[in-house]
Amino acid sequence: MLNWDDYDVAEGESQAATQQQTPLQPEVVNKALEALVEAPATADVTATSQLQAAAAAVANIDTTQGLAELEMSGSRISVDEKAMINCRADLNQLVPFKYDWAWQKYLDGCANHWMPQEINMTADVATWKSEDGLTEDERRIVMRSLGYFSTADSLVANNLVLGIYRLITNPECRQYLLRQAFEEAIHTHAYQYCIESLGMDEGEVFNMYREVPSVAKKASWSLDKTKVLSDPNFNTGTVEADQQLLRNLIGFYGVTEGIFFYCGFTQILSMGRRNKMTGVAEQFQYILRDESMHLNFGIDVINQIKLENPHLWTEAFQQEVIQMILEGTALEIEYARDTMPRGVLGMNASMMEEYLQFISNRRLTQLGLPEQFPGAQNPFPWMSEIMDLRKEKNFFETRVIEYQTGGALSWD
Ligand SMILES: [Fe+2]
Ligand SMILES: [Fe+2]
Repeated sequence: MLNWDDYDVAEGESQAATQQQTPLQPEVVNKALEALVEAPATADVTATSQLQAAAAAVANIDTTQGLAELEMSGSRISVDEKAMINCRADLNQLVPFKYDWAWQKYLDGCANHWMPQEINMTADVATWKSEDGLTEDERRIVMRSLGYFSTADSLVANNLVLGIYRLITNPECRQYLLRQAFEEAIHTHAYQYCIESLGMDEGEVFNMYREVPSVAKKASWSLDKTKVLSDPNFNTGTVEADQQLLRNLIGFYGVTEGIFFYCGFTQILSMGRRNKMTGVAEQFQYILRDESMHLNFGIDVINQIKLENPHLWTEAFQQEVIQMILEGTALEIEYARDTMPRGVLGMNASMMEEYLQFISNRRLTQLGLPEQFPGAQNPFPWMSEIMDLRKEKNFFETRVIEYQTGGALSWD
């Protein structure tokens, strides 16, 4: 932690006094500049002449040229100039706000900050290591969940940073994307923290996304959506390219974070409700709360792009999106069957199938598309309660959940 007591003011001042030197003559500065230009890596230049050279370089900065090199005009902007994609207005000016919902989600995300080490894992370690702490079916669920999620959040983070961030062209949404990227890092940290605490075989867990078919299929479905956008030469601006961006957003927010997380989350939270692996369950509960905000942000982004670019939302494209949601649902149902060959924790694969159909309907409705599983009901209503930020209670009674952070740095 930063501690000002470690800095000795008197010693610092005396060092500064001994380092003071007389100003250099112009010819000395010129010589130093020449040396820097000719052989910057090897030139024998004193610290003082480097300072002089830096001052000269700073004085010569051409601000008009510098701004012209940015991707925008550099002039003051109005709200009307802002757009979700293909915007040429200055992306460095956060205000005036146009997308208040994105800024609000950024504030909400910050207000719900948490870290994995804050959660006590002692009881989980004892349960995991004891012979009869968990059944084989329960152990499989813990392993598969950590196997899928330990790499899935990296896929999401990479997609944000390498794909989406550059192409979403307003600073409010970018501000939230930066917050989300950090939350994804915290999630990967949380899974690693669980894996390490429980003493699992890290190689086995982190390689499941390549080695266990029901996990690998989901990961490769997501990875395929990143491929096009992470090409540095990819740019939006044509109908085809803008639809490609939408495909990615729907693939990640609608399917990866909106469907692929749901079987594993439900299983682990159900375990926590039965007082088993409560530390892991609490980590998942915090993650789920973040994820439900990521999902809502993504849906808002997609719908706002649709609103500003109605020509992208063609009948053929809508059919394609329905197909993507159905593929995601099918993959998650397959994962449910693989992880629950028998009934476990008061649930089974066919209950999960109905839940996933219910979730799938919800995603379609959120995107303005027709439900594909009419009448599907939610067999796990307690999941909705956990996800609703405002209604949330201190679920496992281990700590106050609606906490605020900040003020950790002390000036005393
Ligand atoms: Fe995440
Ligand atoms: Fe996420």
